[in-house]
Amino acid sequence: MPWPTAELQRDLQALLPGLQVQVLAQTDSTNTRLIERARSDPTPMLLVAEQQTAGRGRLGRAWQARPGASLTFSLGLPLAPRAWQGLSLAVGLALADALDPPGEPGRGAAARGGPGIGLKWPNDLWLWDGPGRGRKLGGVLIETTGSATQRHAVVGVGVNIRPDAVPEGASAGCLQEICPDITPATALAQVAAPLLAALLRFQDTGFAPLQPAYAARDLLRGQAVHASGQPPLAGVADGVDADGALRLRGAAQDRILSGEVSVRFAGVPLPAEGPC
Ligand code: BTN
Repeated sequence: MPWPTAELQRDLQALLPGLQVQVLAQTDSTNTRLIERARSDPTPMLLVAEQQTAGRGRLGRAWQARPGASLTFSLGLPLAPRAWQGLSLAVGLALADALDPPGEPGRGAAARGGPGIGLKWPNDLWLWDGPGRGRKLGGVLIETTGSATQRHAVVGVGVNIRPDAVPEGASAGCLQEICPDITPATALAQVAAPLLAALLRFQDTGFAPLQPAYAARDLLRGQAVHASGQPPLAGVADGVDADGALRLRGAAQDRILSGEVSVRFAGVPLPAEGPC
């Protein structure tokens, strides 16, 4: 697969000097590799894998992706935001804006009457199929390592590109449904610099300035949701706060800061999380 490694390294180094770009034909998990690497070498790195043999999703789940049909990469860098809350939302928003620019004619909102790519709190990209309907397109796994004062963040991203990214039977979406010519390499070229820029901005200003842009892609707003946790909660999603917490109406608790949320779109049960 041809990857624009030199161009990417040049563009990313303009934002963060020293950042290295590497593409591997196969590894266990790009997140695992970068977390281990950061223990001895904190140099920022973008690591792409054509195939992961032990890809990981949130909450200990596996992340499966067919080689050539998906984009799987991680971006590792020292990061020191005032608060970490809201980081996965900022990452999802940067990816969605890069792949589905807001207001661009022929794509996204203008063509489909809503966002081409929506966001499901806290870390999923979904293909927007209409009000109250969607399918998972990708996910974000953020891990950190280091000391309390010097944290290194690893932001892992998996996105379905071709229809065959999706294991049989799973109800998921892929990017080629809205961008027919896109490939893993062109998708990476589209998202890498905006993602890095978003991480550096988040370090300075946190999630609050992104709240309105997030709201425009918020798939959960107005939907009946269940939040797992102690105690489990049921309510209606009512947007996100300036710190990235999910607001709930009619639940025993009016906001949640982390966890997992499941939703039934248009009466069709869809998986809350997991590989596409
Ligand atoms: C989720 O939705 O549960 C998050 C999925 C994140 C998958 C990506 S693929 C690249 C990186 N390496 C991993 O092992 N996981 C993330």
